[in-house]
Amino acid sequence: MRKASSIIAIGSDHAGWALKNTLLRFLSRRGFRVLNFGCDNDQTRVDYPDYAKSVALAVHRKKADMGVLCCGTGIGMSIAANKIPGIRAAVVWNQRSATLAKEHNAANILCLSGRLLSIPQAKRSLLAFLSAEVSTEPRHKKRIKKIAALERNHQ
Ligand code: RB5
Repeated sequence: MRKASSIIAIGSDHAGWALKNTLLRFLSRRGFRVLNFGCDNDQTRVDYPDYAKSVALAVHRKKADMGVLCCGTGIGMSIAANKIPGIRAAVVWNQRSATLAKEHNAANILCLSGRLLSIPQAKRSLLAFLSAEVSTEPRHKKRIKKIAALERNHQ
């Protein structure tokens, strides 16, 4: 399990707001420091790239150890967050995908659906992600390096 002293940046749009608040409390109860980048309610429609940017920059700038982003599907958040260098944002849908996102893909932001996942399933996925470790196997490390190389040179 990732150290409870870890700092986690969290954000959502209106469609992920309820799930974000639940996960914020869930993490705080477990002793994590959580930086909440909004949004602040589910009544006002907002644009998910704005919140993906805030959380991804917090991770990129090492203000947070990892991030959690919630929107309707998790997909828009992941697409936007992955535009920031060094970010590997993964949409996950169960414990296994969450574990593999950390182990194989060294994901540093977890993207969760507020509309397609139950709250218990989202919590289980988050716990699986926090419990998993990045694989040290050379084949996985080589692939992560290739992703980083794509950021530098994509001609
Ligand atoms: C908002 O309606 C919805 O499009 C957004 O939350 C997200 O699912 C986008 O990927």
